Amino acid sequence: MTAGQYDTVWLTGLSGAGKSSIADALAHRLKAQGRAVAVLDGDQLRHGLNRDLGFTPEDRHENIRRVAEVARLMNGAGLTVIAAFISPYRADRAMASAIIGAAHFIEVHVSTPLAVCEARDPKGLYEKARAGQLTQFTGISAPYEAPLAAALTLDTGTVALDESVARICRLLQLRQ
Ligand code: ADX
Repeated sequence: MTAGQYDTVWLTGLSGAGKSSIADALAHRLKAQGRAVAVLDGDQLRHGLNRDLGFTPEDRHENIRRVAEVARLMNGAGLTVIAAFISPYRADRAMASAIIGAAHFIEVHVSTPLAVCEARDPKGLYEKARAGQLTQFTGISAPYEAPLAAALTLDTGTVALDESVARICRLLQLRQ
């Protein structure tokens, strides 16, 4: 085992961009290679550890802070972590990088455009946000600050899931 195996792959992007699908497929692939892997996903953690948090900038900040602390602990225990969170604020992602350690934080921008995410609308949330039934919805009534220097940028509107996973795997292999 090399130190490169205990990294956090941080997937950031809009709701519906394809973060969870990439996280699950990547976890599957890495496990098949013999890695110990954990997936941390916004929708899942908001049902448990972070169930007390909403979507104000302050709550999103606290969401990301807790996730980064958990990721750091998991990396320390020998797990590769895949984190899938909108994490819309650059400052919060910088905080996550600082907590996890910049050398172990791999930022991947799932850059699928808003129009594509909204057309998919897998949970019907964009429709609710447009109707004003959901406030502070990222991309509609709350900002998304795109990364300025992501290690990788993947638009799932044009890049197939297998190819996205392969590109992240290549990136991880280069780091070992
Ligand atoms: S983050 O901004 O704090 O990083 P996180 O990734 O944990 O967000 O959770 C995002 C998920 O919460 C979305 O995929 C969506 O299912 C749900 N959600 C509910 N309300 C909102 C909202 N106002 N903005 C964004 N996502 C929301």
